[in-house]
Amino acid sequence: MQQFETYLNENLPKVPSFHPVYEDALGVMLTAGGKRFRPMLLLSIVKAYEPMLYTSSLPVALAVEMLHTYSLIHDDLPSMDNADLRRGHPTLHKRYDEVTAILAGDALNTDAFLQLAQAPLREDIKIKLIELLALNGGGRGMVLGQAIDCYFENKPLNIEQIKVLHTNKTAKLIACSLQMGAVIIGLEKQVQDALYSFGIDLGLLFQIQDDIIDETQSEEEAGKPTGNDGDKNSFVNLLGLEKTVAEADSLAKDLQRRFEDFDEKLQIALQPLITKYLTRHKG
Ligand code: IPE
Ligand code: IPE
Ligand code: MG
Ligand code: MG
Ligand code: MG
Repeated sequence: MQQFETYLNENLPKVPSFHPVYEDALGVMLTAGGKRFRPMLLLSIVKAYEPMLYTSSLPVALAVEMLHTYSLIHDDLPSMDNADLRRGHPTLHKRYDEVTAILAGDALNTDAFLQLAQAPLREDIKIKLIELLALNGGGRGMVLGQAIDCYFENKPLNIEQIKVLHTNKTAKLIACSLQMGAVIIGLEKQVQDALYSFGIDLGLLFQIQDDIIDETQSEEEAGKPTGNDGDKNSFVNLLGLEKTVAEADSLAKDLQRRFEDFDEKLQIALQPLITKYLTRHKG
């Protein structure tokens, strides 16, 4: 974790110019904190199997965090969730202005792929990583999820549709982080697929829990505005809090079972990161 933070701080996008705030705007949300869940998933897999590749994987982990951070900067814009606080700090459009926030998001999105292209890894592996991040974090994944989320505000979806929404907006990037780790160390396709499919359900659980946070936590605890999903197609709005917690529980139990099928090395690597999500609710 510390190594990742150090790498991130030393590799913030450096674009000196006579623009008074542009360069700062690119870095400020990256350094503002965050759980670093996606980069940690990726790096834990690498560390478990090929610790020698850990350092070379830091740019890949940063790429995922950059793409995720861009998605948050845009998610908070007035035209989307209109949020003033993110990671315990003012959102970029509040700190600067909307144009700066939109463009900082654009820049981080593209810079993520620059990180991948410049990582000291084999070319064929990098092409696969670029493909995975584009497929899951772009128009066929996260962006589609955000589009559905925003278009269907105040237009109730059914549970299957909400699962499609959550899968795209959140789960695919989480699943992709696991698969990218597996690609770097050359785990066989079958294990990659199992990790990806586990990651999809883990990501679904992650977003359901995020919807629960919106309902149950204070702004201080969450580091972002809560009670903000009233118009959203969240699990809580469709099922109510109690049933949502039960749904999260049953998904967590299923994931725990599937987790135990992974080989021991993988379990040891991922356990500390995901225990919190798999045991959060009692039931
Ligand atoms: C927030 O993601 C948006 C969702 C996909 C729920 P995180 O909960 O990972 O946010 P940070 O990175 O810790 O700030
Ligand atoms: C956003 O979901 C997920 C993204 C892809 C950015 P939310 O809108 O629920 O995320 P928070 O609650 O603002 O972090
Ligand atoms: Mg949103
Ligand atoms: Mg939001
Ligand atoms: Mg949320």
